[in-house]
Amino acid sequence: MSMVPLWCVVPAAGRGARVGGDVPKQYLPLAGQPLILHTLQRLSAHPSIAGLMIVLGAGDPHWPGLDQLNGKPVLTTLGGAERCDSVLAGLRALPASVTDDAFVLVHDAARPCVRRADISRLIELAVPAGGGLLGAPLRDTLKRADADGRSQVTEPRDQRWRAFTPQMFRRAELSAALLSASQAGVTVSDEAMAMERTGFAPLLVEGAEDNLKVTTAADFALAEFLLPRTV
Ligand code: C5P
Repeated sequence: MSMVPLWCVVPAAGRGARVGGDVPKQYLPLAGQPLILHTLQRLSAHPSIAGLMIVLGAGDPHWPGLDQLNGKPVLTTLGGAERCDSVLAGLRALPASVTDDAFVLVHDAARPCVRRADISRLIELAVPAGGGLLGAPLRDTLKRADADGRSQVTEPRDQRWRAFTPQMFRRAELSAALLSASQAGVTVSDEAMAMERTGFAPLLVEGAEDNLKVTTAADFALAEFLLPRTV
């Protein structure tokens, strides 16, 4: 399918408290360079991606100050308190050339192992569906814990998916959905959740499970192993 290249918003305004330390996790080294650079290189190398809008924390001293990668423009803007605030800020800061009905990708800075083929598949399948996201069906048995850490009940696994990024929706529809959630005081944990609140059912596109969100120190070692194996 030939189509207009899409912009990608990359929320990177988190403090990464779970890894510990003063440096936010997206700037910690992974295979010799900051985690976020791996992610941005992979996104900018994709032929369907036109440019990147990176959403940074206030006074971020670590951002390397790039303005292009692989010949694609790299812009930055200021994020907010929650991931959803940061994504909305990124959507608002996109250039005017990105029309209201243009699809926009959103991808976590902390997911460096996303595969090129999965990005292509998401675009190919979710554009005709009006929007969607990468994910994978749940494979483990799911337990609900009580306050003592004992398993109270086993939850059904059928039709349960894990949600990854990229997620892809139309610029104006996603902005309106995020604004509506924010005005209702609902902190949505991903773009799809904001769209679901508006009555839209995002297409779930199955992607590789090694598209991990690097969160803990152990994830860094795993991501380093996966990086050369997931291109
Ligand atoms: O903390 P978590 O791993 O869920 O964050 C997912 C992504 O959202 C990260 O890339 C993080 O930098 C970003 N984020 C953000 N603004 C926030 C919180 C998280 O851009 N307020």
